[in-house]
Amino acid sequence: MKVSTLFTCICALVASASAALEVTIPDSYTEWYSGYTGLVQWNSSASEFGLLCNIQLVDVETTEAVYNLTNASIPCSLDNYTTPILPSFDNQVFTVRIGETNNASLWSYTENFEILPQKYHDKNQA
Ligand SMILES: *[C@@H]1O[C@H](CO)[C@@H](O)[C@H](O)[C@H]1NC(C)=O
Ligand SMILES: *[C@@H]1O[C@H](CO)[C@@H](O)[C@H](O)[C@H]1NC(C)=O
Ligand SMILES: *[C@@H]1O[C@H](CO)[C@@H](O)[C@H](O)[C@H]1NC(C)=O
Ligand SMILES: *[C@@H]1O[C@H](CO)[C@@H](O)[C@H](O)[C@H]1NC(C)=O
Ligand SMILES: *[C@@H]1O[C@H](CO)[C@@H](O)[C@H](O)[C@H]1NC(C)=O
Repeated sequence: MKVSTLFTCICALVASASAALEVTIPDSYTEWYSGYTGLVQWNSSASEFGLLCNIQLVDVETTEAVYNLTNASIPCSLDNYTTPILPSFDNQVFTVRIGETNNASLWSYTENFEILPQKYHDKNQA
């Protein structure tokens, strides 16, 4: 019950925020790996120029923000950001959200994607 309420809420936020920041990467084809960095890309418009943004990792299963990908706020107009090295997580399916630091009600969400254990990266690159 609580979960479905929250997801309804997320959908509403996506709709209202879509005119602002459009996050293009990660998308549903993206795979990130524990122990490696990830790339986030989005499109800002002139209305975000000069504003500061935060980027968070949200566990789709628990709907909790599990990790702040930005410690300090970054300019919303940066349009791409390489994350710090990712820790290991219990679950694998995530969404990234980016929002204006001074406006906690406005988040843009990516598609769901996976963060895989480090051993899969090492195997895939070997
Ligand atoms: C968003 O940015 C991406 C990559 O920079 C670009 O390919 C895409 O066309 C942009 N989308 C919009 C709606 O501006
Ligand atoms: C992320 O940062 C916000 C604001 O600084 C803080 O309230 C929150 O607890 C942090 N979340 C995590 C998962 O560290
Ligand atoms: C986050 O803050 C901690 C402690 O201040 C620092 O060690 C770490 O490098 C910071 N990470 C980022 C991505 O800025
Ligand atoms: C990030 O944005 C900068 C400035 O627009 C651009 O020069 C750079 O190529 C981008 N990096 C990636 C990985 O897209
Ligand atoms: C947050 O963004 C919404 C939608 O753009 C706006 O109506 C509201 O005034 C903003 N709040 C703050 C504190 O800027």
